[in-house]
This record gives sequence, structure tokens and C-alpha cells, in this order.
Amino acid sequence: MTATLTKTPTVVRTIAEMRDAVRAYRAKAGAAASVGFVPTMGFLHDGHASLIDRSAQDNGLTVLSIFVNPLQFGPNEDFERYPRDEARDLDVAARAGADIVFMPGVAEMYPTPAATQITVTGVTERLCGASRPGHFDGVGIVVTKLLNIVQPDRAYFGLKDAQPVAVVERMGAELNQPVEIVPCPIVRESDGLAMSSRNVYLSEDERREALVISRTLAKVPAWIGSGMNAAQLTSAVREGISASPLADIDYVETLTYPGLQPPAPEAPLSALSERIIVAAAVRFGRTRLIDNILITQPEA
Ligand code: PAF
Repeated sequence: MTATLTKTPTVVRTIAEMRDAVRAYRAKAGAAASVGFVPTMGFLHDGHASLIDRSAQDNGLTVLSIFVNPLQFGPNEDFERYPRDEARDLDVAARAGADIVFMPGVAEMYPTPAATQITVTGVTERLCGASRPGHFDGVGIVVTKLLNIVQPDRAYFGLKDAQPVAVVERMGAELNQPVEIVPCPIVRESDGLAMSSRNVYLSEDERREALVISRTLAKVPAWIGSGMNAAQLTSAVREGISASPLADIDYVETLTYPGLQPPAPEAPLSALSERIIVAAAVRFGRTRLIDNILITQPEA
């Protein structure tokens, strides 16, 4: 019989303890020290596990944070009902190779109402920035606070949330945050659904119908190859997703990446040298799912 050995991560809940733990690691590891950081809102799935695993491969110490950040939820969003399961998360964190799990409470992170704002313009105007006003100000402040607390060498983000990756990269570059942002590929269920903590909200019917998103996005490279421009591609994707009677489209957009601006309107996308993203947010019942495809090498 073989047993898989996993180490139990150290759980820290205060900023002071978090700083002490990283300081102690750096003092011990010396010049070879490297700290990887995976910020999350918990309810971990294999997508998060892949980020933790990647960080553990790249770094001597991997810190995972679990914090459902109230500042990035709008008044009618799912902050209260956002799924939380600490015991399960610690199990996933241990198996994926996290060394420290930082789980601060809201009062630890925001002892006073936040007076400081971080607004990244341009890359936040479209997609979730347009449909979730204030969301990226909340992401900007919490990511900056977490980076300041953990002071990692590298921070790992999944590309399902491609807009936050663009926002965090831009913010990090402009504020000279001393961290390398490492974007990592989307992890999907075996049938193609992008992994998300919100997938647990889906009913059986919604879960089945939600596959229309990934199945439609999978056709994008061929549609680009056939010479479509941005408007044609966006309407082909809208039409594909609308084939599901349960799909209520919030947005479908074709943009440059990471600038998140509309590409030249008439040009076939295959003729452009910029990277292109096709991103969708679609509601199934009360659950809003996002997914995207990033075309790094437009087909000629
Ligand atoms: O993408 C997320 O899970 C969150 O927006 C993040 C980056 C952890 C900030 O709360």
C-alpha cells in the first residue's frame, strides 16, 4: 500500500504573523530564498491547485491567501453567499504543496474603512469592469495590500480571470511593485467547463447548458482562420452561446490583450499582430460564469 505524503501548511490569520513567517523563511534560506504567492478567495478547485503546484515548483516557499474581499463585490452581488469551506480548502492547499495559508478576517484586512483607492484606467473599462462597477478598484486595493503583506518574488494568477491579470500586471508595472506576475493557463473540467468556485451554484440543467460557453469559444481559432473581423467574431460567439435557452449573456467581446481595447474594426483578426482575447460572461439562473480564449498566434 502506498500513502501520499502531504505536509500540513501553517495557517496564519494576522498580518504580523504572516510577515514574521516570510521573514523567518528568508533569514533561513538566505540568497536562495524565493517566495511564491497565490491569492484566492477560497473554495479551492483544481485551477487553484495548479497555481499552488506551479508556485511550489518555482519557489522555496509558497504562500496561499484565502480572503473573500468585500470591496470587490457590488451591493447586489454574491458576497454573503460566496462559497466558503475552510477545512476542504486546507486539504486542497496541503495536497497542492502550499507551505503557508494566510486567512485574515475582514477586520484584520480593513480595520478602518479603506480611504485609499487604486483605480487602474483603460484595461478596466470593458468586460467585467463595465458590468461590475467598482470591482477592479476592490481587486486593486486587496491585491496591493496582499503583495505588501506577503512581499513575494512571484504571484500566480489564472487566466480564466484574464482581465484581473491585465489589471494586476499594469498596476504592478506602474507602481513598481517588486513582484513578477505569472499568468497561468485556464484549467477545465473534463467536459470543457472552466473551473470556478461558482460552478457549485449551478443546477444539473444549468451545469449541462453551461458547456455552450467553452464549446463556442473552442470554435474561435477556426473562425479567425476563416477571415472574420472582430464584429463578425463577436456575433458568431454570441449566436453560438445563445443557442442554449438557459444562457443569458452579460457580455461577449473581442479585444486586444492585455490592452483590452477594440481591435481595428474592419481588419480580419488573422491579419493583426496583437494578441486577441474573446471573453464572455453568461448567466445561468443566478450564476454568472466567465470564460475566454486568448489567441496568442492569430492563424494566418
Ligand atoms: O481572482 C480572485 O480570486 C480575486 O479577485 C483575487 C485576485 C484573489 C483578489 O481578491
